Amino acid sequence: MRQRKPKNLQERLDAYKHLLVKAPEQHKGEWRAMFRERAAQRQNAGNAGNAEAGAGTLPQATLGAGTLPQATLGVGAMPRAALATSTLPPATLDVEAMPPAAPEAELYLEIGAGKGRFLTAKAAAAPDSLFLGIEGRDGIVLRALEKAGAMGGANILFSRHLVRSALDIFAHGEIDGLYLNFSDPWPKPRHEAMRLTAAARLDEYKKILKPGGFIEFKTDNKDFFEFTYRKMIEVQGYELAEVSTSLQKSGLPARLVLTEYEERFIRWERDIYFICAIISE
Ligand SMILES: C[S@@+](CC[C@H](N)C(=O)[O-])C[C@H]1O[C@@H](n2cnc3c(N)ncnc32)[C@H](O)[C@@H]1O
Repeated sequence: MRQRKPKNLQERLDAYKHLLVKAPEQHKGEWRAMFRERAAQRQNAGNAGNAEAGAGTLPQATLGAGTLPQATLGVGAMPRAALATSTLPPATLDVEAMPPAAPEAELYLEIGAGKGRFLTAKAAAAPDSLFLGIEGRDGIVLRALEKAGAMGGANILFSRHLVRSALDIFAHGEIDGLYLNFSDPWPKPRHEAMRLTAAARLDEYKKILKPGGFIEFKTDNKDFFEFTYRKMIEVQGYELAEVSTSLQKSGLPARLVLTEYEERFIRWERDIYFICAIISE
């Protein structure tokens, strides 16, 4: 869908530079350090500018509370990484308590983060975990930055970047969970390689995810869902833990945290297809 560029785009992006990561490939293998660095910079700057509103304090979790259900397909229990996002931790992120050595904060990634509603809600619900949203379009990432700025948490960053290879940006095992929400379906067969769940992409995600880490995938497109389901079986190393062809009617916790697209599709009474796959290798 074509959208007009917001006015004064660069100026407005600059106002959120504390939340925006340029050249993400430069932080490969060092994302947790990057989050700590940004949080420390914001503390040192006295929580100035847009960070002022509520910086240092994080809102109470609003969504995603509760425990995750038993897996419905394939796997007996959800991974530790997934469980950790569903508990309600203390309300502040203690930068000092996150030294470069373990225990490391869990790091969750969304590719194609859109206007940031989903990731901002996740970050608010899990202030001890880190959330990185990558979005290819700058007019859209601005909306995400505005939400993250209003949320005020030190545990969320966005990058304006079109991901071609996840391996350019993340080291092996660096990520605990990956969200692919309403990714472009690229319906024409000749565009199969462009789909974010094409076999070559799944092969890369498997490497940047920890063993036991997960991919959560949502779409309103039945063909894209079936394609992704097949690829996750074909590409070895994934176990399908949860699958739903009607997420809103399921009891799965993934139905609770909505994206902008999802909210619209629910209003239009469209089915949401969902897969949670666990890295088994
Ligand atoms: C259909 S929108 C969905 C946005 C959001 N996830 C939601 O559910 O509301 C897909 C988004 O993915 C972004 N996108 C597509 N391919 C991408 C890529 N390779 N890297 C980063 N962003 C990408 C697009 O710019 C677009 O904003």
